[in-house]
Amino acid sequence: MRLQIAILPGDGIGPEVIAEALRVLHIVGEVSNIELHFAEYPFGAAAWKRTGVPLPPGTLQACLQADAVLLGAVGAPECDDLPHEQRPETGLLELRRELGGYANLRPAVAYDAVAACSPLKASVVSGADLLVVRELLGGLYFGEPRGIATDGSAAFNTMRYSVEQIERIARVAFREAARRRRKVTSVDKANVLETSGLWRQAVTRVSHEFPDVTLDHMYVDACAMQLVTDPRRFDVILTENLFGDILSDEAAVIAGSLGMLASASIGGKVGLYEPVHGSAPDIAGRGIANPLGAIASAAMMLRYTAGLEQEASEIESAIRQALEAGCRTADLARGSAAKAASTTEMGVAVECELASILDRRCSYHAV
Ligand code: IPM
Ligand code: MN
Repeated sequence: MRLQIAILPGDGIGPEVIAEALRVLHIVGEVSNIELHFAEYPFGAAAWKRTGVPLPPGTLQACLQADAVLLGAVGAPECDDLPHEQRPETGLLELRRELGGYANLRPAVAYDAVAACSPLKASVVSGADLLVVRELLGGLYFGEPRGIATDGSAAFNTMRYSVEQIERIARVAFREAARRRRKVTSVDKANVLETSGLWRQAVTRVSHEFPDVTLDHMYVDACAMQLVTDPRRFDVILTENLFGDILSDEAAVIAGSLGMLASASIGGKVGLYEPVHGSAPDIAGRGIANPLGAIASAAMMLRYTAGLEQEASEIESAIRQALEAGCRTADLARGSAAKAASTTEMGVAVECELASILDRRCSYHAV
């Protein structure tokens, strides 16, 4: 199997964490018969500085022709005052729309080894393992009309969903739940919003196609609270774009740090894989960022784009083992006296764990 992967390191800590994801992917390439080809392209503020736009046409073309896109992060403080269309975040939304992945999967797992790193009590988070399925191409992010009055006295955005958009994301959530603990919690604001009323009806209809999966509905405000008081009650959380954006950052406290979270945007022409954290300009260039979100995103890429379930799970086991061995980047080292690992040290720790997992598998097959 041959996979062509477009690499968009982007801004801030993006290049630092992507380097570690590539380190881990190279190991997979070496020991399996999967040929991984990587080519890097400018994106985000880095591209804007060189070309005046955050998503240059050459980068978009390359992404559309690739089998998958692995992205670091976008955003830089010097772009904060740019006009809307030149902002790195606008480039990201354009890339998402062009690639077409409407289903954004964001798993949050409280690994035992780092349950104590969460700002929440370990007794609350330990054992939590949930998946946010966020609709990525609708809602307030893309709804028209949108704008700001010429005199700046008012601004507006539109939340709009079609039945088709809701049904297709609901199917993804139910399919994922069928492979997990078979429970979908659909999150909306149906007591106030028409879009949420439509959402509830369409999700309920789709649920009948999946009799083995249970469905419950929850208002988004209640969900925000339950996530931090009783996270173990959730398996798959299905929700619209902005609610999913907010709830997935909140879910990061369950995993111990935003640096832990990975994401996959699937269902379109080309899968897009990116850690949930942003460019973190405050720590960029210091070699201290947590690369596990980026490494776990690379695992999701193998699973969802290439169907390499075994290799993906092996990377996830390597992450777990590196944490069990005590490796902690600064974001996870809260309160610990030990010196925190650098970005590279964490990447190397996962690489070594993966190498030994793969060695064991290969020698087992050889016997
Ligand atoms: C995310 C980010 C993006 C979003 C921004 C950078 C546009 O916060 O991936 O969660 O809001 O989707
Ligand atoms: Mn976000």
